[in-house]
Amino acid sequence: MCGIAGYIGKQQAAPIILDGLSRLEYRGYDSAGVAVYDGERIHMEKAQGRLRVLEELTQHGATMPGFCGIGHTRWATHGSPSDTNAHPHMNESNSIAVVHNGIIENYAQLKQRLLNKGYHFASETDTEVLVHMLTEYYNGDPVEAIEKVMHRVEGSYALGIMFLDHPHHIYAARKDSPLIVGESSDGKFIASDVPAILQYTRTVYYMENEEIACLSTEHTRFFNVDGEPIQKTPVTIDWDIHAAEKGGFEHFMLKEIHEQPKAIKDTISPRIKDGDIDLSEIGMSDEELLSFHKITIVACGSAYHSGVTGRYVLEDLARIPTEADLASEFRYRNPIYDAGTLVIVVSQSGETADSLAALRDAKAHGCKVLAIVNVVGSSIAREADAVLYTWAGPEIAVATTKAYSCQIAAFYLLALKFARLRSTITPERFQTLLDALSCLPGQVESLLAQKEKIQFFANHYLATEHIFFIGRGIDYALCLEASLKLKEISYIHSEAYAAGELKHGTISLMENGTLVIAVATQDALYPKTVSNIVEVKTRGAFVMAVTTLQHPEMEKCADYVLYVPKTAAPFMDSLAIVPLQLFAYYVSLGRGLDVDKPRNLAKSVTVE
Ligand code: G6P
Repeated sequence: MCGIAGYIGKQQAAPIILDGLSRLEYRGYDSAGVAVYDGERIHMEKAQGRLRVLEELTQHGATMPGFCGIGHTRWATHGSPSDTNAHPHMNESNSIAVVHNGIIENYAQLKQRLLNKGYHFASETDTEVLVHMLTEYYNGDPVEAIEKVMHRVEGSYALGIMFLDHPHHIYAARKDSPLIVGESSDGKFIASDVPAILQYTRTVYYMENEEIACLSTEHTRFFNVDGEPIQKTPVTIDWDIHAAEKGGFEHFMLKEIHEQPKAIKDTISPRIKDGDIDLSEIGMSDEELLSFHKITIVACGSAYHSGVTGRYVLEDLARIPTEADLASEFRYRNPIYDAGTLVIVVSQSGETADSLAALRDAKAHGCKVLAIVNVVGSSIAREADAVLYTWAGPEIAVATTKAYSCQIAAFYLLALKFARLRSTITPERFQTLLDALSCLPGQVESLLAQKEKIQFFANHYLATEHIFFIGRGIDYALCLEASLKLKEISYIHSEAYAAGELKHGTISLMENGTLVIAVATQDALYPKTVSNIVEVKTRGAFVMAVTTLQHPEMEKCADYVLYVPKTAAPFMDSLAIVPLQLFAYYVSLGRGLDVDKPRNLAKSVTVE
């Protein structure tokens, strides 16, 4: 999604803004722009394509003098990617410049009204209505004009605004799209996310919905939507700056795959205490957890896939009816809520629009919401009744790896907690599972050593057009994620199927040489999956199997086998996903694609 960066201070603004935008590249974008007050006018430069085009155009900001500016990377929603549709947008007198992340839902009506009043639109964007509305309402007081606009627009927005009349100020506003304000002794910042400003400051204000900020070199002021001043307390970000850098790896994705042992350990270890699962930090008592008789998991993308694994594990261990749904479906299907349902919203970013909307809907219906979130202070974390943080650290590659692994680890913790509370497993089994959980980080580490073998295999499949992933039970849940990973970054068409479902249609797609990746980590289902492998092989498929070291006989059946160590059956996804993440990575690398920033994708989807 779009990225916003802005700076006012003692340094030249444009290089700092471009640097900030480059650290938001992971969000996904197709054009970029910067506006800076140069002492006389608001000087704007915009360019379609990668940020380097804008960097070259402005000689890394050197050609844009001035100490106050705003910048933007755009992920097109209204209007195709182009120089004209890129942000910032300015009014006709070049006295107001706006950058926007989000969608103005009533823009068509607003645009018609503005056209009737004689305003001219240069772009096809929804954002441009904001520029003309600010022009219409501006009477010398920027905060008052912003307020009036906020009262009239519907939708989501994070805004950075400059007024030529107030050249030493940046204004910002937010509703349902993330925006932070940073402060250092050198200057003030606005940004969509922390990495954009981490090298300049760790002092950050999280803007809440319907708040306005006014930044000058001297002050940071905040107002509510009625223009009344409000007090906000900054928080100190304790991330390591190196966490948002590649640290010697060729790509963030490869780095993040390698960070999984630590991330899983950081997520699990603090919650295992004295032979038990301690979730006292989340903000829900054992009594409250015991009161739920049903769980509904809601999320998008890979977070949803973690929820599918969560469903299998919760039902298996805790015997609690659990459903997993896509947030974009859930919120519009008139779901049946009751007070005994715990709604779990899973999100790496904590800002995904559909997941946030589902959370609000559940709360409005009186349900308790537990969030499994990676970004501290994000909207979903703040609005949920309870939060179980995944401690994956900042994840930069668009295709998630370590955050997903932490999400499924969080579900294991929850499943064990519920199982213990509901006495659905024996104390001995609980202990065995707890021990297995503690061993996962070391086992993931051992899997990373298989890299070369996976790269070798991946290099043989760079030109393939279709790949099918099959598995049963949690192996099927894993296939959903492995298939998404592959298609996200390699652009190869891939599908995940429950292995038993193949013969109901999909098997007609099998031809000589079709690549099928079969996951068979569950002893109880192993013979069934083997039968499905035989079925596709009979129709000419080439099968790569992922199974445990306990099943060397798989080599008689599959054409190529990747072995993973064994852990307790419910936790196998944590191990089996690693070679398949590496497979996706090496296919993308071998095809010469932009692994960390795949086309059309955004890391944080803050629009519907
Ligand atoms: C985007 C990302 C996916 C992610 C999904 C949900 O589509 O590209 O990797 O799984 O959003 O994001 P969230 O931040 O809510 O986990």
